[in-house]
Amino acid sequence: MKIPFFVQEFTQEMEDAVIHALRNESFVGGESVSKFEDEFARYTGTKYAVSVNSGNSALQISLMSLGISDKSKVITPTNSFIASANCIRMTNAQPILTDINLRDGGIDISNVKEKADAIIPVHIYGNPCNFDSVKSLAEDQKIPIIEDACQAHGAIYKNKKVGSISDVGCFSFYPTKNMTVGGDGGMTTTNNEEIARKIKSIRDNGRKTKNEFDRLGFTMRLNTVNAAIGRIQLKHLDEKNSRRREIVSIYRKNLVDNCILPENPDGKSVYHQIVLKHEKRDEIREELTNNDIGSAIYYEKPIHMQPIYLDYGLNLPNSEKFSKEIMSLPSYPSLTNEEIEIISEHVNKIIN
Ligand SMILES: Cc1ncc(COP(=O)(O)O)c(C=O)c1O
Repeated sequence: MKIPFFVQEFTQEMEDAVIHALRNESFVGGESVSKFEDEFARYTGTKYAVSVNSGNSALQISLMSLGISDKSKVITPTNSFIASANCIRMTNAQPILTDINLRDGGIDISNVKEKADAIIPVHIYGNPCNFDSVKSLAEDQKIPIIEDACQAHGAIYKNKKVGSISDVGCFSFYPTKNMTVGGDGGMTTTNNEEIARKIKSIRDNGRKTKNEFDRLGFTMRLNTVNAAIGRIQLKHLDEKNSRRREIVSIYRKNLVDNCILPENPDGKSVYHQIVLKHEKRDEIREELTNNDIGSAIYYEKPIHMQPIYLDYGLNLPNSEKFSKEIMSLPSYPSLTNEEIEIISEHVNKIIN
């Protein structure tokens, strides 16, 4: 039996929504866009949600809306997708790449020695980061927080949804995420009216009114058809996240070694990735590959070891060690219990 690492789904409900949007709405700026934003804001418990065309755009525009520019420094962890750091450089600011804790791979702010102008913690793998420590650093330094919640739709930290606990939350709808828009897409969330207004302007070429532009901006809007799919996906997000939690509990029960990364005790992860950490990582992957079972490594190289960051000359030992021992198991909601059993047996064969 072949078990892929990821399965893309296209349902009748998504298809109906697409056709309805294309037949009845403007292709750009149709009513599905504002409805999706209202529903997403309600879901995260924020006053405003402003959609954009990717998670990277969400991060970049959020930084710009907070006035981050070429004189700024922004803290971000090195165990993340490259966009968490590149968004900073795209504003001409300087990333302060920060090491992680070996427990769950999240940012460890005790490593931060420099004064910065903003911080981007990442809720990596769908697990809320240790946000209280981030908040205390941000309060000490009097700087804003932008949550990179690109992998954490629906995750909870101390009874609040991620994306609602900082100045701006950023989400990605890339197809592998816990919810998608059937292509690239993103969302920003905030309780600050002024920030929401700036993000709306920057995503639309810096527009102030129909014919007036008072700042620099991009074309980074979410298309109507993507928003229509996003509304359907949001409706099913909680049930899909529950299935992911079920899946991880079966893996935890089955695996002989307690090797799956723990959940933040102050939160509720949505298990975008189910990550195990083991010295025999490469052998486990080989066993899975030999048996037609997909797996992946997020991330094989921490950001500071990517070619575009090598000139920073950083040595961040925890993330370097972590990246050599981690791997992701299949975690999508349509994975069957039988498939989880088969995967677990193969993993156990190596770690036993
Ligand atoms: C942690 C993190 N940040 C940022 C991004 C960027 O999102 P996108 O691919 O939608 O630009 C992603 C998604 O790939 C991500 O996983």
